Amino acid sequence: MFPPGPNLTEPSPDHCRMCAVVGNSGNLNGSHYGPLIDYHDIVIRMNKAPTEGYERDVGTKTTHHVMYPHSSTALDNTTHLVFFAYKTYDLKWLISSFTPRNSKDMKPRFLGNKDLVLILNPEFIHHVHHVWLKKKGGYPSTGFLTLILSLHMCDEVDVFGFGADSRGNWNHYFEELKNKRLKTGQHPGHHEFTALQRLQRQRKLRFFRGW
Ligand code: C5P
Repeated sequence: MFPPGPNLTEPSPDHCRMCAVVGNSGNLNGSHYGPLIDYHDIVIRMNKAPTEGYERDVGTKTTHHVMYPHSSTALDNTTHLVFFAYKTYDLKWLISSFTPRNSKDMKPRFLGNKDLVLILNPEFIHHVHHVWLKKKGGYPSTGFLTLILSLHMCDEVDVFGFGADSRGNWNHYFEELKNKRLKTGQHPGHHEFTALQRLQRQRKLRFFRGW
């Protein structure tokens, strides 16, 4: 039903694959990063990540979108759906979302291009948790998984929308902050942030801290 292998641009000395990994942090608000994000060949967003109404700060382009059943959003026909499946239900949901309901209704329930679906081996989550985060916290955040994935897919990685805002809040750019004590829940946010800073020091990626 889905492509058997990933549809990725192969490495080449003639072309630098530039990627923007865009998290959902409130530090994007007021950043004016939109044009800079859109300048990248590959722009990866995750979960809800609306662009409409936030174009100046987050841009308009989305080549890849990471989502789960609970955070799904309709994609356009040119955007890759990146799926970190970690339980049987996730795969069942994915299949049913692309299966026509009955012969009269031939449209899939889920508006996305099934030829652009990319399903990660669940072993990848295990790898990131064990190797990159040394088993800290319950499980890696979507953003951190995406960031490590991008290091495999791209030659240059620029990271936006990660971490707290200038007031120390872990909020979303598209939501009013209701819970000021909101942190990173099950995710080892502190360790992920330390790993991100280390990668930046080693010049493996560039981190744009936002506003
Ligand atoms: O909240 P959500 O999971 O949709 O955000 C996507 C990713 O963006 C998170 O997994 C996290 O890595 C990153 N994020 C962040 N700081 C925030 C909000 C999100 O680093 N304040």
